[in-house]
Amino acid sequence: MKHKVLQYGRLMPSLEKQLAEAFDWHRLVDEADPKAFLAARGREFVGLATAGFADAALIDALPSLKVISSFGVGVDKIDLEAAARRGIPVGNTPDVLNDCVADLALALMLDVARGIGASERYLRAGLWPTQGPYPLQRKLSGKKLGIVGLGRIGHAIARRALAFDMDIRYHNRRPVLDTSIAHEPSLVELARWCDFLLIIVPGGAATRHLINDAVLDALGAKGYLINVARGSVVDEAALVRALVERRIAGAGLDVFENEPQVPAELMALDNVVLVPHIGSATVETRGAMAQRVFDNLKSYFDKGKLVSQATA
Ligand code: NAP
Ligand code: 8YV
Repeated sequence: MKHKVLQYGRLMPSLEKQLAEAFDWHRLVDEADPKAFLAARGREFVGLATAGFADAALIDALPSLKVISSFGVGVDKIDLEAAARRGIPVGNTPDVLNDCVADLALALMLDVARGIGASERYLRAGLWPTQGPYPLQRKLSGKKLGIVGLGRIGHAIARRALAFDMDIRYHNRRPVLDTSIAHEPSLVELARWCDFLLIIVPGGAATRHLINDAVLDALGAKGYLINVARGSVVDEAALVRALVERRIAGAGLDVFENEPQVPAELMALDNVVLVPHIGSATVETRGAMAQRVFDNLKSYFDKGKLVSQATA
């Protein structure tokens, strides 16, 4: 008999095909009344495949649930405590996305410093022949990079930044043991020291608005903020104020507080590079993430153990 797996949200078609073949699989999005469906049939499911979300209400509505497998490394929208209370392990997709998120982090730094997107808009608007050369921008190579969150992705970013001769320091709650990169215990001091402050910590309550007015003021008028972590980590209203008032030089943002909504004030600024949460969005990486979602479920049901288990 196949294990019954419920899918919450939409997943890649190739992954849905794999799930449909291996399990007795059901998509909640196909139900006209998901609440009524869960009340009537929630008890049947032992596995949950999710596009990143599982709150306590959903977990409670699945009383036979044994395992959750989530698409993505960040589990900030999964109630890990509610899952742990029931002894339900949560699988995620670490490491396979490090390269792509790190590549994007470097692309955002290069773009915001050199004005790649903004100067392309200038060219396409036909302004080059009439207004002359684009204004001089800022150099990236050799600058100071402050990484907030030297974890799996943070290390991949640091490796790339070293190739740009950047001077790197980082801020974590605990110093990393096996690195020659200097730990800065104070986030405000890291912001004061660096030219680029790059955020790559997990989202959730513990890091909410870690980047606030004080950090932005320390970063200062020559500093750039790069966020490839979660929108919740940055006080977006404070960031908008700092950018509009030119209290910081610019920002490169892949993530936002209220996705997919992006504040109109940000859209209006030319010293800001905005992309729609595309950190892991390549065919190769999304394929590897999808495979891990499947492998986590399969491994749990076959061997009682996930390939990669998220921790709080
Ligand atoms: P990770 O290996 O767990 O690294 C997270 C790092 O953040 C750790 O070094 C941790 O060190 C540090 N940290 C945690 N809380 C902190 C705090 N309050 N203050 C300072 N540092 C803190 O995670 P990862 O795999 O690199 O992923 C990081 C996050 O990136 C994910 O959780 C996800 O939200 C985001 N992400 C975004 C995209 C995208 O598409 N933009 C893609 C993938 C991941 P300590 O525990 O010592 O503090
Ligand atoms: C994905 C991410 O965009 O892994 C994460 O935490 O933020 C990204 O890789 C997301 O999980 C897919 O919706």
